[in-house]
Amino acid sequence: MRPDPDRPDSAREYARHRLPLRPILGAQAAGFVVAGLLLALLEPGPLRQPLPLALVQGAVAATVARGQGAPRWWWAIHAAFVPLVVLASRLPLHPGWWLGAFVALLLVFWRTDRSRVPLYFSNAATADALAQLLPQGACRIVDLGCGHGGLLFRIAAARPEARLVGVEHAPLPWLLARLRAVRHPNVTIRFGDLWQADLSRADVVYAFLSPAPMRRLWAKVVGEMPAQALLVSNSFPVPDVAAWREIAVGDRRQTRLHCYRIPTVD
Ligand SMILES: C[S@@+](CC[C@H](N)C(=O)[O-])C[C@H]1O[C@@H](n2cnc3c(N)ncnc32)[C@H](O)[C@@H]1O
Repeated sequence: MRPDPDRPDSAREYARHRLPLRPILGAQAAGFVVAGLLLALLEPGPLRQPLPLALVQGAVAATVARGQGAPRWWWAIHAAFVPLVVLASRLPLHPGWWLGAFVALLLVFWRTDRSRVPLYFSNAATADALAQLLPQGACRIVDLGCGHGGLLFRIAAARPEARLVGVEHAPLPWLLARLRAVRHPNVTIRFGDLWQADLSRADVVYAFLSPAPMRRLWAKVVGEMPAQALLVSNSFPVPDVAAWREIAVGDRRQTRLHCYRIPTVD
């Protein structure tokens, strides 16, 4: 059954798609096929121009995305993408600027198409709420996908006896975090894939990811973390798992921390 875009979990279902690029490219390709047919069939005239054809392409792509069960905001992206490319290509800009912008976005966001986890940061109130949850004394905290490390550095300053590890795969945020870590001896920043991170010695794992990887994350933490250790997920609950605690941070974003104790294996 295809997901209903009006249901709140529609975005989650779409996000869980195993190869998210495939439906996206499929919708765009359908738009190009229809626009190509029009180009072949129409007599030269005002409709046979790049912008009207791009608008048709966008409308078809958005319709196909709707049929795929994509959430509404994806319909808008599909509808606007090629028309905006056509308009942007009319700007008097050297092509190098577009290449530069693409490389800059790639360095910041890396393979968001695969990870389904974009870059946004935990705020200070969230870091303070997390600090309250940490065990007393020496402990080991891992931030999976640490971005520029802001959360880790705030906790590191408040808890010098704690060991903090951040794992990040996007080159630019990783580099920033790595440079900042020079001033914090209790913080280690690793470049790499969070799915390869060793969590066997972690007392607390913090994750601010997206709905897409939460089931996989739960399987990883249960398989690797010690019993009774803590997973804290900012904003995104683990489906079908009862939280040990739910914390409302009380910030403007209305952040919720979903906290899970790792179960004891019988
Ligand atoms: C929402 S941001 C959270 C940043 C930081 N943890 C915070 O709370 O401020 C998610 C981060 O996870 C990173 N990320 C996503 N998938 C990853 C992966 N497979 N391996 C490592 N980092 C990943 C992204 O690049 C991004 O920096």
